[in-house]
Amino acid sequence: MTNSNRLIIFDTTLRDGEQSPGASMTREEKVRIARQLERLRVDVIEAGFAAASPGDFEAIRAIASVIKDSTICSLSRANERDIARAAEALLPAPRKRIHTFIATSPLHMQMKLRMEPEQVLEQAKQAIRFARQYTDDIEFSPEDGSRSEEDFLCRVLEGVIAEGATTINFPDTVGYAVPEVFGETIRRLRERIPNSDKAIWSVHCHNDLGLAVANSLAGVTIGGARQIECTINGLGERAGNTALEEVVMAVRTRPDFFKLELGIDTTQIVAASKMVSQITGFAVQPNKAVVGANAFAHASGIHQDGMLKSRETYEIMRAEDVGWAATKIVLGKLSGRNAFKQRLQELGIDLKTEEEVNAAFARFKELADRKSEIFDEDIMALVSDEEHAS
Ligand code: KIV
Ligand code: ZN
Repeated sequence: MTNSNRLIIFDTTLRDGEQSPGASMTREEKVRIARQLERLRVDVIEAGFAAASPGDFEAIRAIASVIKDSTICSLSRANERDIARAAEALLPAPRKRIHTFIATSPLHMQMKLRMEPEQVLEQAKQAIRFARQYTDDIEFSPEDGSRSEEDFLCRVLEGVIAEGATTINFPDTVGYAVPEVFGETIRRLRERIPNSDKAIWSVHCHNDLGLAVANSLAGVTIGGARQIECTINGLGERAGNTALEEVVMAVRTRPDFFKLELGIDTTQIVAASKMVSQITGFAVQPNKAVVGANAFAHASGIHQDGMLKSRETYEIMRAEDVGWAATKIVLGKLSGRNAFKQRLQELGIDLKTEEEVNAAFARFKELADRKSEIFDEDIMALVSDEEHAS
């Protein structure tokens, strides 16, 4: 099962993303985002945590009623009440998944759960057994997996797979992992657990050290995971989760390295990013990969000249392929004559002689020293001044 080259994209914007302080969403907003995630063709939408609140339950219910193409998932702790609540919320979904979890690290078991490892093992297995009455699609996460002991993880994961868990999601709950170690841990777990190939392996990384995307990709390339859990704009608890747009475009842009297939319609990425930002009020930083306003903007004269000759000189992806209207050539003090001339043409300004272009370019440079970005209106004003002067 895990040898397949298909990479499953599991979006948790509506669950882990909503755990960002200040990012709570209404039911209607969640449904709008879920529809956009369906247009993006994500494989699984984690729509919420049904037992967390009546509002979360209703939002999952509403999403399960309207989404047809993506699998809808609810999170639940590893207990019967939570699992039954998740199953109830998911009832209308044509494809449903229950995602249940329990912490397996010594720290979490002792300090948070106050449970012995044997009790955790039994509760995890019991949860899967219980969930199986509702669906065959069951995901299990050993919370704080990257700080758990490997021998214990082997016992828990072997046990839950034997009970019928079909996806094993390995979380780096506190963003502590580093790529090589994280990838190697998953590879070793898969090697050591006799029934490991009966489940699809997944990664769920947090971004506390800015390593969520790198860890997720290492989980795939080194560890053999075939599902990545991620969120739009990397929204999520604390410093956030793996950014969907980054892992997807890494895999798409470097097929030579990853050799993986994706079901995602990448042209829907920017629309999804803008929608999530607008609904949550979380602005996207301008230099954010793929979806930041500057991700396809060129300001340096040398780069602009290269881009005008061949866009591959300074772009590894096409702006249109992720949903931007076009690459942006930003005119400013670093811009060269070629970029300026090109913008004149785009604006339908036809300066007859090279002298006229040179004079307009000189005025443009003077202005650019005073103003960080020159807009089309500035150029039009500048050229009409030129016409009046001559
Ligand atoms: O970060 C985490 O461990 C989680 C689990 C519930 C998968 O969000
Ligand atoms: Zn998480």
